Amino acid sequence: MAGGAVVSATGGKDYPGKLTMFVFLTCIVAATGGLIFGYDIGISGGVTSMDPFLKKFFPSVYRKEKEDTSTNQYCKFDSQLLTTFTSSLYLAALIASFFASTVTRLFGRKWSMFGGGLVFLVGAALNGAAENVAMLIFGRILLGIGVGFANQSVPVYLSEMAPARLRGMLNMCFQLMITIGILCANLINYGSDKIKAGWGWRLSLALAAVPAAIITLGSLFLPDTPNSLIDRGYDEAALQMLRRIRGTDDINEEYNDLVVASEESKKIQHPWANILKRKYRPQLTMAIAIPFFQQLTGINVIEFYAPVLFKTIGFGNNSSLLSAVIIGLVNVLCTLVSIFTVDKLGRRKLFLQGGTQMFICQVIVGTLIAFKFGTSGEGDMPKTYAAFVVVFICIYVAGFAWSWGPLGWLVPSEIFPLEIRSAGQAINVSVNMLFTFAIAQAFLSMLCHLKFGLFYFFAGWVVIMTIFIAFLLPETKNVPIEEMVVVWKRHWFWGKFIADEDIHVSGKAVEISNGKPKGAGV
Ligand code: BGC
Repeated sequence: MAGGAVVSATGGKDYPGKLTMFVFLTCIVAATGGLIFGYDIGISGGVTSMDPFLKKFFPSVYRKEKEDTSTNQYCKFDSQLLTTFTSSLYLAALIASFFASTVTRLFGRKWSMFGGGLVFLVGAALNGAAENVAMLIFGRILLGIGVGFANQSVPVYLSEMAPARLRGMLNMCFQLMITIGILCANLINYGSDKIKAGWGWRLSLALAAVPAAIITLGSLFLPDTPNSLIDRGYDEAALQMLRRIRGTDDINEEYNDLVVASEESKKIQHPWANILKRKYRPQLTMAIAIPFFQQLTGINVIEFYAPVLFKTIGFGNNSSLLSAVIIGLVNVLCTLVSIFTVDKLGRRKLFLQGGTQMFICQVIVGTLIAFKFGTSGEGDMPKTYAAFVVVFICIYVAGFAWSWGPLGWLVPSEIFPLEIRSAGQAINVSVNMLFTFAIAQAFLSMLCHLKFGLFYFFAGWVVIMTIFIAFLLPETKNVPIEEMVVVWKRHWFWGKFIADEDIHVSGKAVEISNGKPKGAGV
């Protein structure tokens, strides 16, 4: 065997091979799956605040909204009907991700992406052409199914295709596409709202077909990952694919490790029952905790409600839409920071730094609002004062954009062993969707009751999640995905859950002594 793997500084192996143009392009195409999710996050809030849309589909909501004369800045009119309509997508995505996990495992990652894109495309057409609420809701459910399939398969695909030492960077292109989708949607809403004839909402909803067409067509050209090919019995194809994506013939060691992982995987009939086993407790905990915490940063309060929030704190109609666009830009640019540093700095440093930054900003924003509106919610905010609020919201978004945003998708996709990876990712997606739904649903009444304290509420959660990461998340940078079990085995807390015989890494790189891989640390 020529060459082979060497043990890297972090304890994982370092396989030979480089970042080929082929793997780079495949990852960019696959990452466009994030566009559909981002587009929807960005478009819904704007459309449901357009008068012609409300008049046509939700006339009672429209009437009540116009009758609302409350001057309390915290307690504006709130329609549960409208929020339920918006968040029906998240419930559909939640359920779809479980079906996606079976498709992803049995037929390959690529067909999940294709299916997701196609269903989303049909949903976009239905929504753009909607004549009644039933068409609108049915369309939304289809969009949700599309998002469920794409979010389940794309992060896993990217993590498997990427060479270990660039996995963070390539996986994060998914989050980059999410943020680009949000920004485009914000810009489109800004323009379509100005269409006097009143069909702007149709344009906004129908244009979702563009990102859907990109991922649907793009996925047809994507090869499947070597991990999935081996797992489905296409060993020869997997070997060739590995040579192609690594740009070298010296892939035997990595190939052997994939085969070992696949043999382990074949022993398991029911990923759903297995995932509950004690040895998978660390990964299962992360697949639940990370998406839960990601939503408890409060980011979607800013994403969904930025225009409402800015209007509330004294911005005019137009300037609040503009502020949403500025936030969208900050989100895109700061995701790039993470892309270029995650494989050098590691996941933990970004999580800890980003968390601290978000906490400080949330406390400042809460306090600034408290000074102006107090607990009564009555008052006015001068322009310069409001500008300060926006600046701190932007710094908060920057912190999210280089930590919990991209890492919330990267880490769960890289920690599961092959046999339960698809199931684990479905849990990640569904927990994410469940809490996106819950926060969207609860936000307006929480703001009305907690007032400026809402920002302290999320700040409190950021403290908890930062401590959680500090103690319980091991560093995963540069560790090959099929060797990840070693990282858990070495961890001061999670190590106890994994028996020596649970470590099936091939080759000589990892030696077990005294029940721990050599070189074990905290
Ligand atoms: C989250 C979304 C959020 C988006 C904002 C994603 O990682 O899952 O809920 O709206 O980031 O950039």
